[in-house]
Amino acid sequence: AKIVFIEHNGTQRDVEAGVGSTVMQAALDNLVPGIVGDCGGACSCATCHTYVDAAWLAKLPPMSEEEKMLLEGSLSVEENSRLCCQIRITGELDGLVLRTPASQF
Ligand code: FES
Repeated sequence: AKIVFIEHNGTQRDVEAGVGSTVMQAALDNLVPGIVGDCGGACSCATCHTYVDAAWLAKLPPMSEEEKMLLEGSLSVEENSRLCCQIRITGELDGLVLRTPASQF
């Protein structure tokens, strides 16, 4: 599936990601700037924060309580914020568009 990452400065990167993998893993594999993924996808670090394009928001699986709580404690959270290690790639997500935050540590 194709995943589109757009950096805060507008740089766009299209990456190929395997179905069953996570968006965070796809970002790391392709060295997408702005995604750190410190905890390796365990939903405990929030360094994989992304903003999901509005058109795609409803297609994503709902947030777990852990993801919600972690996001609440993060900087610059918006309505469309998600932790991308919690987004598992499926065929339906082909073309998914996400924006990465200006900074992520
Ligand atoms: Fe740590 Fe997503 S990689 S919460």
